[in-house]
Amino acid sequence: MTTFWSFWVIAIVTINLVGCAWLIWWTAKPIDNEPASGESMGHAFDGIEEYNNPMPRWWLGLFWGTLVFSVIYLIMYPGYGNWKGLLGWTQVGQWEAEVKATEERIAPIFAKYAAMPVEAVAQDAEAREIGKRLFLNNCAVCHGSNAHGARGFPNLTDSDWLYGGTPEAIKETITNGRVAAMPAWGAVLGEDGVNEVAHYVKSLSVAQIKADKPELVAAGEAKFQQNCVMCHGADAKGNFAFGAPNLADEIWLYGGDIPTIKETLNGGRQGVMPAQKNLLSPEKIHLLTAYVYGLSHSK
Ligand code: HEC
Ligand code: HEC
Repeated sequence: MTTFWSFWVIAIVTINLVGCAWLIWWTAKPIDNEPASGESMGHAFDGIEEYNNPMPRWWLGLFWGTLVFSVIYLIMYPGYGNWKGLLGWTQVGQWEAEVKATEERIAPIFAKYAAMPVEAVAQDAEAREIGKRLFLNNCAVCHGSNAHGARGFPNLTDSDWLYGGTPEAIKETITNGRVAAMPAWGAVLGEDGVNEVAHYVKSLSVAQIKADKPELVAAGEAKFQQNCVMCHGADAKGNFAFGAPNLADEIWLYGGDIPTIKETLNGGRQGVMPAQKNLLSPEKIHLLTAYVYGLSHSK
């Protein structure tokens, strides 16, 4: 806070406190020539007379009490301009202390699971509960609360993997992240080339395409063998090393209709799984690995 605003706050708080004190003193003070306490004030309305009864002492005492409390409070806690308060209390400090206390409380639980292999943690009901909460907080925005994914965000509950479904591969994915590099082919293959390859790719999961358009698919296959096998494999079943998906199944990351396949080929795709190593502790990543592993290896 700048000095100006600090003095501004100090002035308003002081004026308010002094103003309240003056008001209480002034209303409780006897007025010249007024009737004695308990006597009639001398007017009546519809037979109801007004008496000069002072405010009860305890009631007045409460008012003074709140004022004294405010002054003590402002001495001990921040609130009076830039004054930090004698106790040195801060919101951030309280929050940090609470986080620390929680972490100390749960550290032994995390340590227990960190010492167990992923496969065993995945079978543990309590660990799955913790993993689920971590997943909802950190992963569900992209992968969905049920981990079924969405367009461009892989489903983690099936056994179709971009980078591999072993505990080691999953942990590597979560820890260091992944950046997919599917090049753009529009300029290389041209419009006809893209159309041919798209039909070949589609024919891998829908055999009818080959029967309907044999020349198109054959031309596409030749171009596929030339350009795509390095990453997707000669059988088009994908390669974990590149995160290149299996193109011969019915599971699609971006979509398996011909227009979407063409869009993928023309523009390329660069899906990014953000690294978590600077966001989550190794113990939390271990639990998340087990949770993800368990989604497709349950029972
Ligand atoms: C350098 C490696 C590499 C090459 C070469 C490559 N791809 Fe890919 N491809 C990838 C990666 C990695 C992805 C996943 C992209 C992502 O996850 O964002 C991908 C994704 C795709 C997809 C999307 C699949 C889906 O599930 O939506 C299709 C279709 C595809 N590639 C076809 C091809 C074809 C056809 C060729 C050859 C013309 C080709 N790729 C060449 C690496 C490659
Ligand atoms: C900002 C969005 C985003 C967040 C947050 C995110 N992911 Fe991902 N994740 C992705 C994308 C996109 C991919 C696919 C990368 C690609 O296309 O190659 C992916 C891929 C993965 C894979 C690899 C799947 C496979 O088939 O090999 C795993 C496992 C995974 N994420 C787990 C997690 C976990 C666990 C978390 C939470 C700690 C998380 N992700 C948070 C976007 C995200």
